[in-house]
Amino acid sequence: MLSFLLPVLLFPFLACAAETILGVFIFSRHGDRTAKSTPPAALTTLGYRQIFNSGTYFRNRYIAPDVASRIVGVDSDVVEQSQITVSSPVDTVLMNSAQGFLQGLYPPVGSQLASDTLRNGSVISSPLNGYQLIPIGSTTAGMGSEDSAWLQASSNCPQAILSSNEYFTSSDYNNLLASTGAFYKSLTPLINATFGADQISYKNAYTIFDLLNVASIHNKSLSALPLLTDSVFSQLRTLADHHELNLAYNSTDPVRAIAGSTLATQVVQGLGNTIKSQGKSKITVEFGAYASFLSFFGLADLLTLPDSNDSFMGIPDYASTMTFELFTTADASSFPAVEDLQVRFLFHNGTMDENSKLTAYPLFGQSSTELTWTDFEAGMGRFAVGGQKQWCEACGNSTGTCASVTPSSSSSSGAGAAGSDSGTGGGISKAAAGVIGAMVTLAVILGSQAAVMLVAGLRVVKKNQLASRAANENGVGEADERKV
Ligand SMILES: *[C@@H]1O[C@H](CO)[C@@H](O)[C@H](O)[C@H]1NC(C)=O
Ligand SMILES: *[C@@H]1O[C@H](CO)[C@@H](O)[C@H](O)[C@H]1NC(C)=O
Ligand SMILES: *[C@@H]1O[C@H](CO)[C@@H](O)[C@H](O)[C@H]1NC(C)=O
Ligand SMILES: *[C@@H]1O[C@H](CO)[C@@H](O)[C@H](O)[C@H]1NC(C)=O
Ligand SMILES: *[C@@H]1O[C@H](CO)[C@@H](O)[C@H](O)[C@H]1NC(C)=O
Ligand SMILES: *[C@@H]1O[C@H](CO)[C@@H](O)[C@H](O)[C@H]1NC(C)=O
Ligand SMILES: *[C@@H]1O[C@H](CO)[C@@H](O)[C@H](O)[C@H]1NC(C)=O
Repeated sequence: MLSFLLPVLLFPFLACAAETILGVFIFSRHGDRTAKSTPPAALTTLGYRQIFNSGTYFRNRYIAPDVASRIVGVDSDVVEQSQITVSSPVDTVLMNSAQGFLQGLYPPVGSQLASDTLRNGSVISSPLNGYQLIPIGSTTAGMGSEDSAWLQASSNCPQAILSSNEYFTSSDYNNLLASTGAFYKSLTPLINATFGADQISYKNAYTIFDLLNVASIHNKSLSALPLLTDSVFSQLRTLADHHELNLAYNSTDPVRAIAGSTLATQVVQGLGNTIKSQGKSKITVEFGAYASFLSFFGLADLLTLPDSNDSFMGIPDYASTMTFELFTTADASSFPAVEDLQVRFLFHNGTMDENSKLTAYPLFGQSSTELTWTDFEAGMGRFAVGGQKQWCEACGNSTGTCASVTPSSSSSSGAGAAGSDSGTGGGISKAAAGVIGAMVTLAVILGSQAAVMLVAGLRVVKKNQLASRAANENGVGEADERKV
């Protein structure tokens, strides 16, 4: 009798507890690459493999047929272009990572599925066993970031660059510079082929760590050198983490985290497109540098998570991902009402394999890992930098693309020509320009490349329709972009 009733009782419970994923936004770091201090940086075979595995992981979580978290209505085999939007900065490592990721997300479908019958009856199948083309939009913010020792430069945001530069005058920086001087000097024999004596200090904490991190993965002759012990390496990493976090985020100076603010806007837009299109748009994938992670961690109150063991203060490993799931527990047979939508934030440090798990973390200092869409949008809205106009204002930019959106009624009008010392308002003051000049030399090994990066703007400039094909073609496309 009881067993007869059980299914009846359980069913309504299951029906309302079941959750349906409607869309996701994935932000990913690139895979293993060569060192920044030996430009041009390139994605290694290991890195390609990592990012491909990561794409495969996300396929098996959200796209493959019959998986538990499958996005409702997503095409599993042959990609439906309107369901997916992918972008990456114009950067060889990041663009190629995006391509590798997509190869895992939508692998070749075989000649059967990927074929056309022409009018004259002949059957054409696509090359490479049904390899699928997915366009990758290119953003110029973050352009060349994997060749840049000075990530903030690739934000193109003058106020953010100024703010990060302030770290180099702080007592925190100067104390560490002094107290770690001997430590860095002791590593000279390991790095003197790449760094001059005056460059071997905390000032270049990240690029030194990066060089040795790459060497620890790739350089077979390194084991002959007893200098790089685990404890030395861990100290190098901790110092680099601290250095980079301070350049990417400062609680009293929000513009420093411009990369995270821009990302927040893109996340809200990406998931917002799913809502606006009533679920037609489903997946947004974006690639970017670790600074975007650190900035976002700071803005979203993740640095101070009580039981996270401070890990959010460290640079995420290669191929790390942040994922934002838009889901509902209501009936999803038609697209749910906005009040039935929820969002969850998930993070994974480093590359994925089939045993990896994404972990949900609470955003904005809340206790729950699930937020209503309205609360999520409001929470992100506290630090998101809306459109081009808001970006131009936050960055104190009034030239280039910003000339047309900076309102003439604003208090900054006319300040540009005067070159006032405040550094706010139009353009950059002479004093500020001096500081930027000085700090760009920080990109010690890559001077000329850094200068190129200062020139670019924020917006998506081009859907590179052909980009997800052969690396050769992509290479040509990028070379052209860089000359712009
Ligand atoms: C059919 O048309 C295609 C494309 O125009 C051509 O390459 C192919 O040779 C034609 N096949 C026959 C049997 O005519
Ligand atoms: C934020 O930056 C200012 C100026 O560089 C510095 O004095 C302050 O200590 C920083 N705050 C934190 C929490 O690092
Ligand atoms: C680097 O240091 C080692 C050991 O001190 C020395 O033998 C070598 O000549 C140095 N190389 C360069 C390029 O300065
Ligand atoms: C490997 O490390 C050795 C010793 O530091 C160095 O001389 C060599 O240039 C490195 N090789 C590569 C490919 O980086
Ligand atoms: C923090 O560290 C403790 C002990 O090492 C561990 O049990 C716990 O799972 C860690 N917490 C997180 C969120 O990683
Ligand atoms: C990721 O792992 C690295 C060690 O591999 C650690 O230093 C860092 O703090 C971690 N970052 C996050 C955000 O968990
Ligand atoms: C912002 O200002 C910099 C420096 O003046 C300029 O190079 C860049 O093009 C501007 N960016 C935009 C989007 O206008």
